[in-house]
Amino acid sequence: MLRKIGMVILLMTVWQCATKLIHPTSADVQRAKEWYPDVDSLTLVTGMKLYKKKCGQCHKLIHPGTFTAKEWIRHVNEYADEAKLTDNQKLLILIYVQTFSRDRYDYTQVDKK
Ligand code: HEC
Repeated sequence: MLRKIGMVILLMTVWQCATKLIHPTSADVQRAKEWYPDVDSLTLVTGMKLYKKKCGQCHKLIHPGTFTAKEWIRHVNEYADEAKLTDNQKLLILIYVQTFSRDRYDYTQVDKK
Protein backbone atom coordinates (compact mmCIF):
# COMPACT_ATOMS: atom_id res chain seq x y z
CA MET A 1 0.00 0.00 0.00
CA LEU A 2 2.69 2.52 1.02
CA ARG A 3 4.78 1.56 -1.97
CA LYS A 4 1.80 2.17 -4.18
CA ILE A 5 1.23 5.64 -2.71
CA GLY A 6 4.93 6.41 -3.09
CA MET A 7 4.80 5.36 -6.71
CA VAL A 8 1.79 7.58 -7.38
CA ILE A 9 3.50 10.57 -5.75
CA LEU A 10 6.66 9.89 -7.75
CA LEU A 11 4.73 9.65 -10.99
CA MET A 12 2.79 12.82 -10.22
CA THR A 13 6.04 14.68 -9.47
CA VAL A 14 7.56 13.51 -12.73
CA TRP A 15 4.42 14.57 -14.57
CA GLN A 16 4.33 17.95 -12.89
CA CYS A 17 7.89 18.70 -13.98
CA ALA A 18 7.60 17.59 -17.54
CA THR A 19 3.88 17.67 -18.31
CA LYS A 20 4.53 16.36 -21.75
CA LEU A 21 1.17 15.88 -23.32
CA ILE A 22 0.61 12.82 -25.41
CA HIS A 23 -0.14 13.54 -29.02
CA PRO A 24 -3.23 11.56 -30.02
CA THR A 25 -2.80 8.55 -32.31
CA SER A 26 -5.50 6.69 -34.24
CA ALA A 27 -5.80 4.22 -31.34
CA ASP A 28 -6.60 7.14 -29.04
CA VAL A 29 -9.23 8.39 -31.48
CA GLN A 30 -10.83 4.93 -31.47
CA ARG A 31 -10.90 4.90 -27.67
CA ALA A 32 -12.37 8.41 -27.53
CA LYS A 33 -15.08 7.34 -29.99
CA GLU A 34 -16.34 4.74 -27.52
CA TRP A 35 -17.62 7.60 -25.37
CA TYR A 36 -17.91 10.40 -27.91
CA PRO A 37 -18.81 8.90 -31.32
CA ASP A 38 -18.22 12.11 -33.29
CA VAL A 39 -14.60 12.49 -32.23
CA ASP A 40 -11.87 12.58 -34.88
CA SER A 41 -8.17 13.30 -34.59
CA LEU A 42 -8.76 17.03 -35.04
CA THR A 43 -11.10 17.02 -32.03
CA LEU A 44 -8.42 15.48 -29.86
CA VAL A 45 -5.61 17.69 -31.14
CA THR A 46 -7.76 20.80 -30.63
CA GLY A 47 -8.63 19.60 -27.13
CA MET A 48 -4.96 19.09 -26.38
CA LYS A 49 -4.02 22.57 -27.59
CA LEU A 50 -6.86 24.16 -25.65
CA TYR A 51 -5.94 22.26 -22.53
CA LYS A 52 -2.34 23.46 -22.83
CA LYS A 53 -3.36 27.05 -23.46
CA LYS A 54 -6.27 27.44 -21.05
CA CYS A 55 -5.37 25.21 -18.13
CA GLY A 56 -1.69 26.06 -17.81
CA GLN A 57 -2.09 29.79 -17.20
CA CYS A 58 -2.23 29.87 -13.41
CA HIS A 59 -0.44 26.66 -12.50
CA LYS A 60 1.64 24.04 -14.22
CA LEU A 61 -0.38 21.91 -16.54
CA ILE A 62 -1.71 18.92 -14.66
CA HIS A 63 -0.99 15.69 -16.48
CA PRO A 64 -4.19 14.03 -17.76
CA GLY A 65 -3.03 10.75 -16.17
CA THR A 66 -3.24 12.30 -12.70
CA PHE A 67 -6.98 11.74 -12.49
CA THR A 68 -9.60 9.25 -13.60
CA ALA A 69 -12.06 10.12 -16.36
CA LYS A 70 -14.78 10.64 -13.76
CA GLU A 71 -12.63 12.92 -11.62
CA TRP A 72 -11.82 15.03 -14.67
CA ILE A 73 -15.49 15.91 -15.14
CA ARG A 74 -15.45 17.60 -11.75
CA HIS A 75 -12.11 19.34 -12.27
CA VAL A 76 -12.89 20.69 -15.73
CA ASN A 77 -16.25 21.98 -14.49
CA GLU A 78 -14.58 23.46 -11.44
CA TYR A 79 -12.13 25.55 -13.50
CA ALA A 80 -14.12 26.25 -16.65
CA ASP A 81 -15.10 29.72 -15.48
CA GLU A 82 -11.60 30.55 -14.25
CA ALA A 83 -10.24 29.62 -17.66
CA LYS A 84 -13.08 31.49 -19.40
CA LEU A 85 -14.07 28.49 -21.50
CA THR A 86 -16.99 28.38 -23.88
CA ASP A 87 -19.17 25.27 -23.63
CA ASN A 88 -17.54 23.90 -26.76
CA GLN A 89 -14.01 24.47 -25.47
CA LYS A 90 -14.96 22.84 -22.19
CA LEU A 91 -16.18 19.74 -24.01
CA LEU A 92 -13.07 19.53 -26.20
CA ILE A 93 -10.81 19.77 -23.17
CA LEU A 94 -12.84 17.19 -21.29
CA ILE A 95 -12.68 14.74 -24.20
CA TYR A 96 -8.91 15.13 -24.39
CA VAL A 97 -8.14 14.72 -20.68
CA GLN A 98 -10.58 11.83 -20.32
CA THR A 99 -9.06 9.98 -23.26
CA PHE A 100 -5.68 10.22 -21.51
CA SER A 101 -6.98 9.84 -17.97
CA ARG A 102 -5.50 7.37 -15.51
CA ASP A 103 -8.16 4.74 -16.12
CA ARG A 104 -8.56 5.23 -19.88
CA TYR A 105 -4.96 5.19 -21.06
CA ASP A 106 -2.42 2.44 -20.52
CA TYR A 107 0.46 4.34 -18.96
CA THR A 108 2.51 1.17 -18.53
CA GLN A 109 3.19 1.43 -22.27
CA VAL A 110 4.72 4.86 -21.80
CA ASP A 111 7.06 3.70 -19.03
CA LYS A 112 8.58 1.08 -21.29
CA LYS A 113 9.61 3.53 -23.96
C1 HEC B 1 -7.42 31.74 -13.28
C2 HEC B 1 -6.46 30.76 -12.81
C3 HEC B 1 -6.71 29.28 -13.13
C4 HEC B 1 -6.99 28.72 -14.34
C5 HEC B 1 -7.16 29.40 -15.68
C6 HEC B 1 -7.08 27.28 -14.09
N1 HEC B 1 -6.83 27.00 -12.79
FE1 HEC B 1 -6.74 25.15 -11.96
N2 HEC B 1 -6.26 25.97 -10.17
C7 HEC B 1 -6.15 27.33 -9.91
C8 HEC B 1 -5.79 27.52 -8.52
C9 HEC B 1 -5.56 28.86 -7.83
C10 HEC B 1 -5.68 26.23 -7.96
C11 HEC B 1 -5.34 25.86 -6.52
C12 HEC B 1 -6.62 25.79 -5.73
C13 HEC B 1 -6.41 25.28 -4.36
O1 HEC B 1 -5.35 24.71 -4.08
O2 HEC B 1 -7.34 25.40 -3.57
C14 HEC B 1 -5.97 25.28 -9.03
C15 HEC B 1 -5.97 23.92 -8.86
C16 HEC B 1 -6.37 23.01 -9.83
C17 HEC B 1 -6.51 21.59 -9.61
C18 HEC B 1 -6.14 20.87 -8.31
C19 HEC B 1 -7.27 20.14 -7.67
C20 HEC B 1 -8.45 20.96 -7.21
O3 HEC B 1 -9.45 20.34 -6.84
O4 HEC B 1 -8.45 22.19 -7.18
C21 HEC B 1 -6.96 21.05 -10.78
C22 HEC B 1 -7.26 19.59 -11.07
C23 HEC B 1 -7.11 22.14 -11.72
N3 HEC B 1 -6.73 23.32 -11.10
C24 HEC B 1 -7.56 22.00 -13.02
C25 HEC B 1 -7.69 23.03 -13.91
C26 HEC B 1 -8.19 22.87 -15.26
C27 HEC B 1 -8.67 21.57 -15.87
C28 HEC B 1 -8.14 24.09 -15.84
C29 HEC B 1 -8.60 24.46 -17.24
C30 HEC B 1 -10.02 24.26 -17.52
C31 HEC B 1 -7.61 25.03 -14.84
N4 HEC B 1 -7.36 24.33 -13.69
C32 HEC B 1 -7.40 26.36 -15.07
C33 HEC B 1 -6.32 28.35 -10.81
C34 HEC B 1 -6.61 28.19 -12.16
